[in-house]
Amino acid sequence: MYENMEELQEAIKNCNKCKLCKNRTNIVFGVGNINSKIMFIGEGPGADEDAQGIPFVGKAGQLMNKAFDAVGIERDEVYIANIVKCRPPNNRDPEEDEVNGCMDYLRNQVMIVKPKIIVLLGRIALQNILGKEYKISSVRGKWIEKKGIYYMPTWHPAALLRDETKKIDFINDLKEVVQKGTGPN
Ligand code: URA
Repeated sequence: MYENMEELQEAIKNCNKCKLCKNRTNIVFGVGNINSKIMFIGEGPGADEDAQGIPFVGKAGQLMNKAFDAVGIERDEVYIANIVKCRPPNNRDPEEDEVNGCMDYLRNQVMIVKPKIIVLLGRIALQNILGKEYKISSVRGKWIEKKGIYYMPTWHPAALLRDETKKIDFINDLKEVVQKGTGPN
């Protein structure tokens, strides 16, 4: 485990723990304020993220940015990472060996940021962080507290692109996050 985010990033820059390393352009490590109370966890990089090395810069990310604006979240003020740091081919779900290979890095990031709140963006983030028994459609919008961290499962922003009616849930969930995140510890 690394105490320092730059050291962690440096240590994994040539990672070849799983097959996703073969086709990646960039590792999408994570961005934002490492002292934030709020961390967002997505699924894995898409084509735009792979090209730029930055999470949530494609269509879904741009929609997430708009939602951030709507509720007063400054993107630079939160920390954003993914379950896997390299792009799965054709944006398929990350496979178990890929998630397992990458999870220690994410754990280390969580250890460094020490967020009070973790927003789980979609099913893949939810099930890999909290357990396969959780269904996004049942627990979305509900706080789940574990070991002193408050988890807010919500829709993945790409789901909002497919179904506009989910936008209102997403905004409401982010409002909850802002409220808890700006309250007293
Ligand atoms: N989808 C994700 O889950 N993560 C990204 O970084 C981009 C799209």
